[in-house]
Amino acid sequence: MTYENIRLEHDGAVATLTIDRPKALNALNNKTLQEFEAAVKSLGADTRVLIVTGGGEKAFVAGADIAEMSALEEPQAREFAALGHRAFALLESLSIPTIAAVNGFALGGGCELALACDFIYASEKAQLGLPEVGLGVIPGFGGTQRLTRAVGRARAKELVFTGARIDAAKAKEIGLVLEVLPAGELLAHCRSIAAKMIKNGPLAIATAKRVIEQGADKDLGEANTLERQGFAELFGSDDQREGMKAFLEKRPAVFTGK
Ligand code: CAA
Repeated sequence: MTYENIRLEHDGAVATLTIDRPKALNALNNKTLQEFEAAVKSLGADTRVLIVTGGGEKAFVAGADIAEMSALEEPQAREFAALGHRAFALLESLSIPTIAAVNGFALGGGCELALACDFIYASEKAQLGLPEVGLGVIPGFGGTQRLTRAVGRARAKELVFTGARIDAAKAKEIGLVLEVLPAGELLAHCRSIAAKMIKNGPLAIATAKRVIEQGADKDLGEANTLERQGFAELFGSDDQREGMKAFLEKRPAVFTGK
């Protein structure tokens, strides 16, 4: 499939999805969100890690497209928010690790896109924030909820109410970003993390992701039940047999994800 505003590239088991409208700082308009959704849906079982990044030098994604949004009335705004939520929920529902490589401005919908990934690595020149209240609206693609879960209520409120942009170092300090890399090393870093992950059992990673996600909103007892079940269910899988056999035979495991 050919896309206009995104690029989807595969390098073995690692896919890189680039939002690529650099002239508009990769702002998310309807078309871009639809292409993003289609690209995420198109990922096959051979993709084991997804990296999401922005095209050009300046931006990851500078938000939803303000020019397009400015013409919306309430019914269309509902549809636009539903599209963004659906696309990011689809991303979040992937069973593989998803990494946001934030290479520049990640504002509004861009910050929300990064938040829908499993974790965020940022370049030194990245700036993150939810500036929507400055436009007379609020974050509309999950930012109020995912940012709150990521950094806590008070910090999320501070960022949302001020609309302030924070740099990568501050974003790391508050736990929004895991690591800050020189701009030229960001993608290589993400790929090296992906390379470590694809050596491990895909079923085990998918199960770990599921129990972490499902357990996050539950009390510890219920959440630990999910872990116990997930642990036990992996026994009897080809990956479990191979992983343990390979260890005992002192050789690298060859996982099939079955
Ligand atoms: N929507 C549409 N176009 C955008 C855009 C956006 N979110 N962000 C940048 N652009 C466009 C600019 O209009 C400009 O286009 P022209 O060259 O045609 O004038 C081009 O990208 C370059 O931008 P700037 O000239 O503004 O670049 P800068 O370096 O001076 O500033 C910036 C960079 C600080 C990121 C600034 O562009 C900016 O503040 N952008 C908007 C950020 C924002 O408010 N994002 C939130 C959007 S609302 C949202 O996302 C809602 C939601 O949750 C669903």
